Amino acid sequence: MEKLRIEGPSRLEGIIRASGAKNAALPILAASLLTDDPLTLKNLPAVRDIRTMIRLLEHLGVGHTESDDAITFLVGGNGKADDAPYDLVKTMRASVLVLGPLLARRGHARVSLPGGCAIGVRPVDLHLSGLEALGAEVRLEKGYIDARCDQLRGARFRFAHRTVGGTENLLMAASLAKGTTVLENCACEPEIEDLAALLNAMGAQIRGAGTESIEIQGVGSLHGTEHSVIADRIEAGTYLIGAAMTRGDVTVRGLRPKDLKPLTTKLIDVGAEVTTGDGSIRVRCSETLQPSSIVTEPHPGFPTDLQAQYTAMMTQASGRSSVSETVFENRFQHVPELARMGADIRVERGTYAKVKGVTPLSGARVMATDLRASACLVLAGLVADGETIVDRIYHLDRGYEKIESKLRTLGARVERISD
Ligand code: UD1
Repeated sequence: MEKLRIEGPSRLEGIIRASGAKNAALPILAASLLTDDPLTLKNLPAVRDIRTMIRLLEHLGVGHTESDDAITFLVGGNGKADDAPYDLVKTMRASVLVLGPLLARRGHARVSLPGGCAIGVRPVDLHLSGLEALGAEVRLEKGYIDARCDQLRGARFRFAHRTVGGTENLLMAASLAKGTTVLENCACEPEIEDLAALLNAMGAQIRGAGTESIEIQGVGSLHGTEHSVIADRIEAGTYLIGAAMTRGDVTVRGLRPKDLKPLTTKLIDVGAEVTTGDGSIRVRCSETLQPSSIVTEPHPGFPTDLQAQYTAMMTQASGRSSVSETVFENRFQHVPELARMGADIRVERGTYAKVKGVTPLSGARVMATDLRASACLVLAGLVADGETIVDRIYHLDRGYEKIESKLRTLGARVERISD
């Protein structure tokens, strides 16, 4: 099994480019099911979740051809399979994003229930009640969601709470529904805006994506287009936290600074100097960090996907801070591993952590438990004294493109090893 070996401490310094956003690319790939025309996508990150989605699309009859900087997807003549099997879904919850497009286009979808996962229960009930509001008949049987419809019909639907994937599934389904759909209490993440931009370029009529209320005028069919996926704000944010944490100086290019505002505001609070340019963010830090507390919330709140990395950073701030996780109920699995490196963190009620700093961290052998927890352990390894081995980095490879080469560009001593 592959591991990352990090020799600390080191200071991150230099310039890197953000990769394409995994979380924007996944629903966008699912949208290839909505048309019979070719869909050409650029800036897809080379990470494992994207390869998993491409495998799932192949299973559903969507072939692809690769050129230098783009991949073109096309539904094949016999592309009539309409099931997402357990073996694929269990490795990636985002597989459920094929549900809306399959239902809208083929009138039937059978998708394995994602089940529990390392960061909480994560049900899909809101995806299902939204599709039912559009006229789908949904049954749960033998661990599968079985959804059918003759023709989806526009409706007014209010999400009981914000869900990124639920909003995306409904956007795709409603694009081909008959009539107008109004979705309320939608998630507002930039990845949803990117999906809507793609769908509109395919001929959909969507207004308001990126706000709480989205109106979709259903159309009879969608056509092919070319689209470049937005930058990964979570990947970029991870390196920018690394800059502050190692008292470094890092510029990340190729992103939209406004998408990272919830993080950059906090980085300023903790004492880093943040400069935003046209498509870039530079974070410099020369002082000891100041503590500052966070509460994770749906966008534009502080992103849950940067919570673990931020928690690692607060171990290096001089004083007490707290981290409140409101999006997922079990997202502090990195804490025991950080504690093994010397961190002083107390988790209360499973969703609230108190961090006391500055604690010097020492290199240790640690275990990655999920994607963002892995990134947090890598950051901790950068400031720790001595050798840190991060085990089970297949989690990291789900979402971080070329992580060791990007870190090496920034001066870190990191290598991938296997035993
Ligand atoms: C997406 C992101 C993930 C991020 C999360 C929150 C992708 C591929 N993944 O996940 O990286 O951490 O947003 O920003 O984009 N919920 C329900 N019922 C539902 C759906 C969700 O109760 O039907 C709950 C979830 O359990 C969770 C919360 O709502 O507690 C938010 O989940 P959601 O926004 O749906 O996350 P994902 O789309 O799975």
